[in-house]
Parts: sequence; structure tokens; C-alpha cells
Amino acid sequence: MYPLRRNRRLRTSQAIRSLVCETIVTPDDFLVPLFVVEGKGVKEEIASMPNYYRYSLDLLEKEVKELWKLGLKSVLLFVKVPDNLKDNKGTEAVNPNGLMQRAIKTVKNAVPQMLVMTDVALDPYSVYGHDGIIENGQIANDATVDALCQMSLSHAQAGADFVAPSDMMDGRILNIRETMENNDFQNVGIMSYSAKYASSFYGPFRDALDSAPVDVQDIPKDKKTYQMDYHNRLEALRETRMDIEEGADIVMVKPGLCYLDIVREVKNMSEVPVAVYQVSGEYAMLKAAAEKGWLNHDAVMLEQVTAIKRAGADIIASYFAKDVAKLIG
Ligand code: PBG
Repeated sequence: MYPLRRNRRLRTSQAIRSLVCETIVTPDDFLVPLFVVEGKGVKEEIASMPNYYRYSLDLLEKEVKELWKLGLKSVLLFVKVPDNLKDNKGTEAVNPNGLMQRAIKTVKNAVPQMLVMTDVALDPYSVYGHDGIIENGQIANDATVDALCQMSLSHAQAGADFVAPSDMMDGRILNIRETMENNDFQNVGIMSYSAKYASSFYGPFRDALDSAPVDVQDIPKDKKTYQMDYHNRLEALRETRMDIEEGADIVMVKPGLCYLDIVREVKNMSEVPVAVYQVSGEYAMLKAAAEKGWLNHDAVMLEQVTAIKRAGADIIASYFAKDVAKLIG
């Protein structure tokens, strides 16, 4: 006796597979992270991120025009800050003429319709490579939140559409929201890195920005006192709920592939859009395996970003965005 239902019927041809396909990735889903450096004519490949670059402002302009043509309409900006401008408090982060502030203006001038999001955290500006200010041998939460509010305001003044706090301090979403409301930036949104885990997948990113934590006092060279413990699940839901209550417009889970269980749970409980960050280490792994000829780069890339969307991502921040857009048009 054959079964009444033969599931293979819906897989017999490309036409029927397309018809019943549940998850379709498009360029609209992506947020493109971009690394910016000082200088002119600079396009430096990041050693641990093959085919990914740091751009000086002139070439950033070219790059965002290209992204726009590919249907990629949102960027997430990061800057590599010269060592001589780093301190404990991230003073340079609020320089109205700082690299980030100029980068925002550059993108907006080049492609006015492009959505510009900015990373808000002190690590690229910190001599210690930490996301917060160090006081008495600890990462000081509230002093850091004050600095993040000023940083966010400075990005808004430069023309950012969204700020994206990636620091994991407590209370920063509420305080940044209030800062925006009190300064006539009601329309500047917040994409909160809500469930951001202390992950070893961030290594290549820290190479890109030269922002890895260094030895200082008794503070460990990791971010485990503020980023989340990857053994935990409920904590992700609590962080997300609180960020939504505090006014986050978009919440994020980070990293991506190892955390798809969290993505699904966050998606199920969240009434705001959910972003997922497929981080630098995830990018590096596939590039390395493909270079060795061990994996089919494009096929695995599409499988991965589709899995992220299927898990519940409304938005995917990924270094593969341009490759995907080129491939699927
Ligand atoms: C900065 C920040 C990090 C990433 C995004 N924003 C690094 C970190 O927290 O150490 C990681 C992104 C990636 O690995 O691609 N706070």
C-alpha cells in the first residue's frame, strides 16, 4: 500500500518547486556593512576577509553607487580610527568632523536615497578595544551610555537615518531614544543589537578595524561582562523584550548561523522587525573553505542566507550582500 501523500510530487520539477517555495531571498533583505578608513584612493583588502575591503571616502562614494545599482539600498557604517585619536572615553566619536560623520555625509551625497545606519559603540575609538569606558577596573555602564547618546546624536546631526548600538550596555536604547526625541531627531531610528553574544566569530572584524581588546588592569581581554553568554536562551528574549520596551525600532540577533534557534524565538515574540548579523567569522569560514575547493562558494552562500531568512530574519546584515545581489539579480 503506497502512502496517499507522496511529498516528492511537490519536488518533481523546477516549476513546481518554485511554486511552493517558502523563502525567497532578495536584495531588499540586505544591509551592507562597510568599513571606512582615512586617506585617498584607498581600497585595502582585509586579510581575514577575502574580497572585503576598507574604503577611503572617495572610493566609498563609488562603492555605494555600485551597491545602489545592484538593488542594495541600506548600508551599515564602521570606521577604522587612527591610533593617535583613540582614548578611554572615545572622545573622537563625537567629533563633528570625524571619519564617521564625514562617511555619513559622503554616502548621503553620493546616493541620497540610500538608508544609512551607523555602528554605535566605543570599541573602534577605545585605546583598550572595549565597547565602554573603563573606570576603576570595570566597564562603566552608565558613563558609557552617556557617551553613546552623544555619539548617536552626532551621527544624527551628520545625517544618519538609523543608529545601531552594538555595545550591550544596559539602558542604552531608552537613553538614546530620549536623546533623539529631545533634540528634534524623532525620525532617526534605532536598530538595537539586542541579543549579541560574546562570540569568537568576531575575530576578522576586529582585524578589519584593529579594535581587538588589549590587556588593561584586571579586565579580561574579552567582552563577556557585557556581551551575552552563548549558553543562554532566555536571556536573549529578556534583552529583546526590554529593548523593544525602551523604543528599539528593529532588534537584532548576532551572530547568525550558530544562533538560528534564538532567531526563531526572537521572531516569534517580536512585533518589530528582526535583523540578523551574519558576522565576519562566518564570512571568513566560507571564503577559506571555498578557496581550498572544499565547498561550492555560491551554493553554500545562498543556502546560508536563505536559512537565516527562513529562521525568521526580516533583515540580513551580511558581507555576502553584494555577492548575493550579483548572483540573484
Ligand atoms: C562593535 C561591533 C563588533 C561587531 C559589530 N559591531 C565587534 C565586537 O563586538 O567585538 C562584529 C561584527 C562582525 O564580526 O562582523 N561593537
